[in-house]
Amino acid sequence: MHIKTAPMGWNSWNTFMSEINEKLILESADAMVEKGYRDAGYEYIVIDDCWSMKERDENGRLVPNPEKFPHGMKYVADYIHSKGLKFGMYSCAGILTCAGYPSSYGHEFIDAATFAEWGVDFLKYDFCYFPKNADGKQAYLTMSNALRTCGRDILFSACNWGCGESWNWMASVGAHMYRSTGDIYNAFESMKKIALSQIPHFNCSGPGCFNDIDMLTVGMYDKGALHRGDSPVQTDADYKTQFALWCMLSAPLMMGGDIRNTNDFCHELLTNRELISINQDPDARQPYDFSDLVDSRALCLFKVLSNNEFALGLFNLADKEATAKFFPTCVGFPNYSGAKLLMKDVFTGEEVTVKDYFMKTLPSHDCVVYKVKAVF
Ligand code: GAL
Repeated sequence: MHIKTAPMGWNSWNTFMSEINEKLILESADAMVEKGYRDAGYEYIVIDDCWSMKERDENGRLVPNPEKFPHGMKYVADYIHSKGLKFGMYSCAGILTCAGYPSSYGHEFIDAATFAEWGVDFLKYDFCYFPKNADGKQAYLTMSNALRTCGRDILFSACNWGCGESWNWMASVGAHMYRSTGDIYNAFESMKKIALSQIPHFNCSGPGCFNDIDMLTVGMYDKGALHRGDSPVQTDADYKTQFALWCMLSAPLMMGGDIRNTNDFCHELLTNRELISINQDPDARQPYDFSDLVDSRALCLFKVLSNNEFALGLFNLADKEATAKFFPTCVGFPNYSGAKLLMKDVFTGEEVTVKDYFMKTLPSHDCVVYKVKAVF
């Protein structure tokens, strides 16, 4: 199976953790369709950890918890498929999943066959309780092979949190996306640390295999257990900046909020067609980071798109207001080129033409993103 652009979907973990059940999953599938997420490009509904019984059955197969999923997983898959969506599940490369449920170490082929039987289209594969003397790369290759030979197209979403600099080898073992960091928290500092740590590694991300910098916290506010006691609840600006950054990086867009109840601001953000088109650009190029070329505190990213247009993102990741500066000469349009840059704000639709320079004062944690065309 070939993944052309970064996968998009929803995952149960950020908001619901172990509090998952059939009703929640089916309602979230309904919301994907009714609230327009499917039409915006979101495709996968993924059940994360805590879906199974604590023991395998007498045939060594994983068993869904009948209290949470009374009709079994095939029923859930059929429902999700009937909505024009795809179904994702979760297992782990170790002896137990992170929450202590049976995991796929030594059971890769039987588990892949079980997932295929249930109609699963996506497997997130975690790294907890991994035996000390075992080889992580081999474990991911083994599950990759099990999925590739199980008779069903199943996207392999590896999640070893970047151990062993996994951006350098996860593509080689057949993953379609790979988590490159520890877990995100619903806090601006966590989001910022994760994004900044991976910007240099996005040269290893693109069609076939994408760097996954974790599920979006957009829209969670004070809900869900991903909150750290001492960090402030994220604001609309925080969420805008997270989503814009994930789009500029062409990172997987896995929503982590309760999509049945997203507020208008976050709904509009998550379905912003211009930003999604930047994320889903077929080339999925790493953005050019020119922050060091300008005297400002902003993170300045310029992304070459496949249609000879560009995207420009100016991000104020600091805790106070900052003025971002942009000189076309910093991104390969020197004055002598004669180019004028037509820039369209992806949030407001406002257009501005830039010849020599452009400045924008950004409140703390805020950003601007433009689609850019050069005219002569
Ligand atoms: C972590 C993983 C999270 C979530 C959790 C489930 O290792 O990074 O995204 O899947 O396990 O227990």
